[in-house]
Amino acid sequence: MNRKVRKAVFPAAGMGTRFLPATKAQPKETLPLVDKPLIQYGVEEALASGVDNIIVVTGRGKAAIEDHFDRNGELEHELLARGKSEELALVKRISDLVRMSYIRQGEPLGLGHAVGVTKELVGEEPFAVILADDVISAEVPALKQLLDIYDHFGAAVIAVMEVPEDKISSYGVVDATPVEFNGTKDRLFRVNDLVEKPPQGEAPSNLAIIGRYVFPYELFDCIDGLQPGAGGEYQLTDAIRSLMRRGPVYAYRFEGKRYDCGDKLGFLQATVEFALEREDLGGPFREYLKQLKL
Ligand code: G1P
Repeated sequence: MNRKVRKAVFPAAGMGTRFLPATKAQPKETLPLVDKPLIQYGVEEALASGVDNIIVVTGRGKAAIEDHFDRNGELEHELLARGKSEELALVKRISDLVRMSYIRQGEPLGLGHAVGVTKELVGEEPFAVILADDVISAEVPALKQLLDIYDHFGAAVIAVMEVPEDKISSYGVVDATPVEFNGTKDRLFRVNDLVEKPPQGEAPSNLAIIGRYVFPYELFDCIDGLQPGAGGEYQLTDAIRSLMRRGPVYAYRFEGKRYDCGDKLGFLQATVEFALEREDLGGPFREYLKQLKL
C-alpha cells in the first residue's frame, strides 16, 4: 500500500559561488527574494502541499538557515513590547508550522550524495526532494501537482519543463513517452531514460528536470550503489536511472512559472515579478519601473 508523503528533503550544503561576495558569510538559501529568504518559498510550498516535516542538508556556514526557522525570543519580546503584532505573527508563523531537522553533508560530493545522507531521517517511507533554487509560482503548488500523480500511480515522479536547446545542457534531461492523464497527453510522461547535463546536441529531448521530486524510499538503495557521474559527482539523476529498473518513473510538466534563482538573472527576474505582485509594493514599484524609460 502507498503511504502518505510526510517529509521533504532540502539539499542546502552548496557554497553558492555564483553569488559571491554576498554568500561569503551568508548562505545562498537565505538571500531575500523581496523580503523572504529563498528557502522559505520552498518550505511554504511543501507546507501548502501537505508536507510539514522538513529535512535540510547543510554544511559549514549555514547556521543562519537554522536560526531563521527557529523561534527568536529576543526579537519576539521586542516586537511585543513595541506593539508590532503583524511583524510578530510573521516571524512566529513559519517556525510554528514546520518541523525542521538538519543534517550535515560532510563532503560536497554531489546532489545524489546530499539526498543520501538523509536516509536515516527519512526512514522507510516515500519522500519529496525540493531544490530551493527553483522557485515555482503556481496556482496549485508544484509539489502538490507531483503528489497527485504519486497518489494515483504509487510511483516516483519528477518535475520537468521545456527548455530551449541552447540551455538544455545545464540540466538533467529525460527521454520520455507521453501518458494520458486527466484527459490530456501533454503533461505526464513515462520516463525511458535520463541523463545529467548532456553535451549540447546530445540531449534526448527538450524536457529538463526541475527541482521537485517524489521518491519511494528504495531510492536510497540506488544512491548507495552510485558511481561518480557528470562533473565527477554522485548525481541524483543517475540514482533515478537505476530506480527505473525497480519500477516506473514518471515526469510531470507542471503548471506554473519557474524562476532559476541559482542564477543572478533568474534571481533578479523573480525579485521584480514577485515585487510587482505584492499588494503593498506592486503599485509604487510599477510606477518606478515605468519612469525608468528603458
Ligand atoms: C540539479 C540537478 C539537475 C536539474 C537541476 C534543476 O542541477 O542535478 O538534474 O536539472 O538541478 O535545477 P544543478 O542546478 O544543481 O547543477
